Amino acid sequence: MASYRLLYPMRTYLVVAGKSEKANVMAADWVTILSADPLMVGVAIAPQRYTWKLVKKYKEFVISVPSLDMLDDVWIAGTKHGPEKLKEMNVTLVPSKAIETPSIKEALANIECKVVDERNYGDHTWFVGEVVGSSYQEHAFPNGKPNLEAGFLAHAAWTDFVTFEKKIYRPKE
Ligand SMILES: Cc1cc2nc3c(=O)[nH]c(=O)nc-3n(C[C@H](O)[C@H](O)[C@H](O)COP(=O)(O)O)c2cc1C
Repeated sequence: MASYRLLYPMRTYLVVAGKSEKANVMAADWVTILSADPLMVGVAIAPQRYTWKLVKKYKEFVISVPSLDMLDDVWIAGTKHGPEKLKEMNVTLVPSKAIETPSIKEALANIECKVVDERNYGDHTWFVGEVVGSSYQEHAFPNGKPNLEAGFLAHAAWTDFVTFEKKIYRPKE
């Protein structure tokens, strides 16, 4: 077993890159927040990915938050190469607010990023994006908290995905 699996389960996201007819979508687990103010996020993308070339070229990307309903699309995004896959997917690319890379209409949220740094680590490139815009579905984030029944997607093992239970656990005060 690859030792990175010891860090699983992880959340699964979609990365959108490119513009207009060249836009592409891939699945990505290796996404994190780096700074709250200004809000910055990082994503590890391997150079073999079509998405890598687009992020390098346009210096922008969108992190989209898929729901469990989008699992089949996530799988296509995560196993097929290049924008042709979009013809097989049931996602609608819509204009973003602050960048030219589109957002995904069906996603629970879209985080629009401009690349401010990048660095190669081993077999992936770590792209750092400053968040310049965002959008989300109201039902998924009522009162500023995620609605656990919205179907946030997490990845347990290669073909195995999970979502969250509604039960909340709180630490002793
Ligand atoms: C659930 C899942 C998570 C993935 N996470 C990443 C990731 O974090 N970084 C990465 O480079 N590839 C990741 N991949 C692989 C890419 O999504 C996959 O190679 C995809 O086909 C690349 O598409 P592209 O060549 O069109 O950019 C993941 C795949 C799956 C199924």
